[in-house]
Amino acid sequence: MSKRIKDELKKEAEKLKNSGIVPGLAVIIVGDDPASRVYVNNKKKACAEVGIYSEEYALAEDTSEDELLALIDRLNCRKEISGILVQLPLPKQINEENVIGRIDPKKDVDAFHPVNVGKIMVGNYDFVPCTPAGIMELIKESGIDISGKECVIVGRSNIVGKPMSMLLLHSNGTVTICHSKTRNLAEKTKRADIIVAAVGKPNFITGDMIKEEAVVIDVGINRMADKKLVGDVEFETAEKVASAITPVPGGVGPMTIAMLMKNTLKAAVINNKEDK
Ligand code: GUN
Repeated sequence: MSKRIKDELKKEAEKLKNSGIVPGLAVIIVGDDPASRVYVNNKKKACAEVGIYSEEYALAEDTSEDELLALIDRLNCRKEISGILVQLPLPKQINEENVIGRIDPKKDVDAFHPVNVGKIMVGNYDFVPCTPAGIMELIKESGIDISGKECVIVGRSNIVGKPMSMLLLHSNGTVTICHSKTRNLAEKTKRADIIVAAVGKPNFITGDMIKEEAVVIDVGINRMADKKLVGDVEFETAEKVASAITPVPGGVGPMTIAMLMKNTLKAAVINNKEDK
């Protein structure tokens, strides 16, 4: 599915370029977290596949907040840059909220800026946060109707849990958000027609917590001691009860990146309009 989306976006990028609009993405990584490095490499690779110009800024672990904000200011002003992505998490001397708030909302392809978060809440948005957007594509393209369904999200992060709840709600799902203080978690997850697991705990959701025929979306990427990647869902037990389930790796991850490419093309169009 992600490949098909990228193929379509490649054609769209070509059309934009023919009309004089060149989409460009700036990706900033601070420090050398190995997982972030892999994600950033995958994002750059996808840009090359789709035909999006990209620039990488790999900053040292001890970069100050002021230095990072100054870079964002420069990128905000540059015409060749349609989208700006700061890979999270950031080192502790840098305040994430200040950084996200500094990105021009029209170049905020992650949709993390409070202006874009607010637009998502209201239901009138340009950029959809990439992971929840990818999950919506997975669900809808699989022919699964969300309307009226019990949707249970496990995890309340700003990147996944909270925006996911809004997108499912806009599609008329009945949404429950569970988190670390939720009592009787299994009782909630067992009600779900659609479960989105985004807690960051390996094999946290097991088959006995899932209703027969439920749709299971696994957002977790956890690296085990033996270097193996596993999700938040125990795949072996969950696949026996689920009607559909996403694997880790190779499930939600590639869709997230495809949606980032989609947002970057959208940003190129929006910023081009702004210039005129
Ligand atoms: N870190 C983990 N997921 C993401 C994401 O979607 N965007 C950014 N910028 N950082 C992340």
